[in-house]
Amino acid sequence: MFDPNRFIADRTHAVDASGIRKVFDLAATLENPIDLSIGQPDFDVPDPIKQAAVDAINQGFNKYTQTQGIAPLVEKVRARLDYRFPKLGNDYGLLVTSGVSGALALLMLSCVQPGDEVLIPDPYFMMYKHLVRLAGGVPVFVDTYPDFQLKPEQIEPLINERTKMLLFNSPSNPTGAVATDTACREIADLADRHGLLLVTDEIYDEFCYEKIQDPNHPGEWVVPSPLDHNPNVLLLKGYSKSYAMTGWRLGYAAGPPAVIAAMSKIQQYTFVCAPSVTQAAGAIAFGVDVSSLVEAYRKKRDRVVERLNGLYELTTPGGAFYAFPKVPEHLNLTGTDFVKRAIEKNLLVIPGEVFSERDTHFRLSYACDDARLEKGLDILVELAK
Ligand SMILES: Cc1ncc(COP(=O)(O)O)c(C=O)c1O
Repeated sequence: MFDPNRFIADRTHAVDASGIRKVFDLAATLENPIDLSIGQPDFDVPDPIKQAAVDAINQGFNKYTQTQGIAPLVEKVRARLDYRFPKLGNDYGLLVTSGVSGALALLMLSCVQPGDEVLIPDPYFMMYKHLVRLAGGVPVFVDTYPDFQLKPEQIEPLINERTKMLLFNSPSNPTGAVATDTACREIADLADRHGLLLVTDEIYDEFCYEKIQDPNHPGEWVVPSPLDHNPNVLLLKGYSKSYAMTGWRLGYAAGPPAVIAAMSKIQQYTFVCAPSVTQAAGAIAFGVDVSSLVEAYRKKRDRVVERLNGLYELTTPGGAFYAFPKVPEHLNLTGTDFVKRAIEKNLLVIPGEVFSERDTHFRLSYACDDARLEKGLDILVELAK
């Protein structure tokens, strides 16, 4: 008898996507929801980048590319990394990937062995734990509530001989927390001391409202990174958020040559290469100034904090375009139940349990127009009372 379930591998069952599915099933019942659940910018791809993609298609740039990425893009990325992270030295590896998700998948497939433990600060980008499990690894969560700052003394007791990797994400999805330079140094030192691969996912670096002076170029402003302190860090960056190119699938990984070589080998037999057209467009993206868009998001962030202040426990987000408030204690509701109430009022936000082993908070995205944001905040103010 034909039983399609027979074909599903055990490793697929290790991925439980039911949390987010529940929310989207509920959301599907809404007609025109105030949607503050979206994980992508609300502006469109800047025109020069679109034009570069159109030109690439018309000029026949539609074929496979080299696995590691096209030369014009690789040169641009290397020049940028050399300038920002002199600590990387001269012989780091670089691989252009299909988004940061592509890089994460390649990393887990090429480096995580069954039983390997991967440290994940909680709350986390939901893909991390699923990809670790898909590779047969064991996610080990480091609870960072209530301020969402990762502290070495919380990590140290969790390290044992099976610990291989530490995932780090600043600015963070879902909390918007930005790690301080001191925290980056401490975490970089800890990874070094224990021989761990520290992976820094800096996909939201463009959206940072708490920049520090560049340690190597005084007068310039940058996001604190562990890569300022330890050269043996794997850096993941992408174009999805900075240039609103989420559907175009472009990112890159830079770091220890052996790790990049392992990831490249798997890319060769899976993704083959990042999309050719997107790579061509990505090669001109660094020349596009998105600072006014980022400034608009800073104002939205300020507005969220101003309106929710005193009603919700909320750590002021220093970056990305998310806030992660706690459900007020007096409501006596889990994050999921609170979100159900919000949905009854036509507001869509995401329960904390989708990003965490706890279910006490919810994520709202302020990547939307001001009018919609205000309406959503009105509902949240009402719900807190
Ligand atoms: C922290 C984080 N890392 C990686 C990704 C994946 O981004 P990409 O579109 O580059 O695959 C996301 C997307 O939401 C994210 O929030």
